[in-house]
Amino acid sequence: MHRAQALSAFGGGALEDIMSLTPIGVRRIDESRPKITIATLREQKLDHQPITCLTAYDYAAARLVDEAGIDMVLVGDSLAQAMLGYENTLSVTMDEMLHHVKAVRRGVKNALLVADMPYGSYQVDAQEAVRNAARFMKEGGAEVVKIEGGEKRADLIRHIIDAEIPVAGHIGLTPQSVNVMGGYKVQGKNLNAIEQLMRDAVALDRAGVACIFLEGIPREVATMITAEVGTPTIGIGAGPECDGQVLVFHDILNLTFGPAAKFVRRYGDAAALITNAVQAFRADVRSHQYPSDEESYHLPKETKAGLDTVLDRKRAMRR
Ligand code: KIV
Repeated sequence: MHRAQALSAFGGGALEDIMSLTPIGVRRIDESRPKITIATLREQKLDHQPITCLTAYDYAAARLVDEAGIDMVLVGDSLAQAMLGYENTLSVTMDEMLHHVKAVRRGVKNALLVADMPYGSYQVDAQEAVRNAARFMKEGGAEVVKIEGGEKRADLIRHIIDAEIPVAGHIGLTPQSVNVMGGYKVQGKNLNAIEQLMRDAVALDRAGVACIFLEGIPREVATMITAEVGTPTIGIGAGPECDGQVLVFHDILNLTFGPAAKFVRRYGDAAALITNAVQAFRADVRSHQYPSDEESYHLPKETKAGLDTVLDRKRAMRR
């Protein structure tokens, strides 16, 4: 239990005494807003109400994203780069993903929580894929798992759905195929590729996925797919006609240390905010401006008087 909570559970304690480092508190569902489910996504598509989705990888970000009213929170394997500093998404493991999904679960209450299945966790065989997907539900508290690939993953996706696990599809620029694609390139730019993407989308639709992420494809192709399938489409670099849009949390906040892709819109500069705060703290410590007397703990009056007496006596003895 958190120290502040522990103290209040035992009848409280003076605020002065509370040494809590991060008094964040437990997050509860906001009853004034609906809980988003996979059925809500379908309703939003039918009602032409755009679906909003952002990635989150830790408790604080998840909580902020959820409290801001975002419909879906994706614990994307993009955390490989954004949180863990890996070169690409291929290295991140099931255990690393689960660690982040659990933290995000504690912060998300109203949004639909989607967990990305990392590279290698579903490619080997269907049994292992179901086992790993079930870990995200059972241990991580995810409500949907996301799998990259279209037509060729349809049977596998059916197996996972048979195990009562909702699945999100992901087609177009699928980062786990970076070596096959020969880089992060926009997909679906010629007629054969468009035909394949249409087949992929229809196969996922028929397999019964909860939604289809469309990444890095021309606007025209995303428009056709969105019109063709009953499943809600969530675009990233796929133009405005998708049923919803997803962006990476770190991208919209300038926390990526590099040039942004064309589709990224920066909504804030957390890098500048953090750098300024860190530099200001450093300067305050170096110049003895932090901490002030108000930011320090003090002895109770009687103890202070007693201590002064003891110190006076010691000084007198030394003379
Ligand atoms: O990992 C991720 O963040 C994703 C989104 C970009 C769709 O898969």
